[in-house]
Amino acid sequence: MNKQEIINILSDETKNDWLFKEANRVRKENVGDKVHLRGLIEFSNICKRQCKYCGLRSENKEIERYRILKDEILLYTKNAIDMGYRTIVLQSGEDNFYDTDKMLEIIREIKKHDIALTLSIGEKTYDEFKAFKKAGADRYLLRIETTDKRLYEEMHPNASYENRKQCLYNLKSLGFETGTGCLVGLPNQTIESLADDILFFKELDADMIGIGPFIPHKQTPLKDCAKGDFWLALKVMAITRLCLPDINIPATTAMETLNPNGRIIALQSGANVVMPNVTSKEYRAKYEIYPGKICINENPEQCRGCIEGKIRAIGRTISKEKGFRKG
Ligand code: SAM
Ligand code: SF4
Ligand code: FES
Repeated sequence: MNKQEIINILSDETKNDWLFKEANRVRKENVGDKVHLRGLIEFSNICKRQCKYCGLRSENKEIERYRILKDEILLYTKNAIDMGYRTIVLQSGEDNFYDTDKMLEIIREIKKHDIALTLSIGEKTYDEFKAFKKAGADRYLLRIETTDKRLYEEMHPNASYENRKQCLYNLKSLGFETGTGCLVGLPNQTIESLADDILFFKELDADMIGIGPFIPHKQTPLKDCAKGDFWLALKVMAITRLCLPDINIPATTAMETLNPNGRIIALQSGANVVMPNVTSKEYRAKYEIYPGKICINENPEQCRGCIEGKIRAIGRTISKEKGFRKG
């Protein structure tokens, strides 16, 4: 699909049913009916950055901050493995407390288990990425958020669009399965720029793409902005499936925040991955990137049971594999 074709589909509401069915068919044909579960550990909500949309931004003084240390991370990892997870995702704000040595220790410990490890800890130098890879990390998630450079710079004070892009190319060249993605519904974001986002995913040959609607958080500069549209986010996701047929695409938590059946609708419109939280209840509400986050009163076992029930109810099953892009 070229840019104009993507724009046409994004702007034409009469094609939605066709698009979602087609994305579902392409998903089934290329990655099958199995759903990969990734166990998510949100291990620190401390962040040095000021992304204007995010509740974890350093200028939010009202949030209660926390860090989960290595031993506790390993406990959640072990518990997740016992529940059948084959991938752990470590996610956090950009928190300098976890310097390279601390991260390497955690990575090595986790990789003593026969599971895949994904990191989502923000922008790092080439050498840091390289060290993480050497220690055993398999995948890295770093959303570009938007490929509209002007909008990117508006949304990210003191940050460089070029550096974010460079990080993604560095990750790819180091052999990480590289995940990126965008927010849908940022203020002043255009349909044209969403089309560019999808073309960028293709240009990078991203291995994973996470698409999330923007949800305004009251302790951020974007508190009075309109929220993103669930269906538009779903359309961006479905077109991404058509453009990159064999990649891993999560049904994102933000989609479920806007629509109570959001993850299941996403799984039937091109997605093949879900990332349930595997940490204990006490941290979930505190990792408040946006309000209305799901699963804040559940424990890991409840989420595991809940998501399995939903997946089975639509005739799909949970994968027992690590779920790499190929093989
Ligand atoms: N700090 C790392 C980073 O930014 O890459 C990882 C954690 S960050 C909380 C993960 C993702 O949350 C971001 O890539 C962003 O797209 C999403 N996010 C942050 N604020 C959001 C909001 N208000 N609505 C929807 N998604 C949001
Ligand atoms: Fe920090 Fe990530 Fe939130 Fe930006 S999106 S403020 S980098 S946690
Ligand atoms: Fe957490 Fe349903 S996945 S309660």
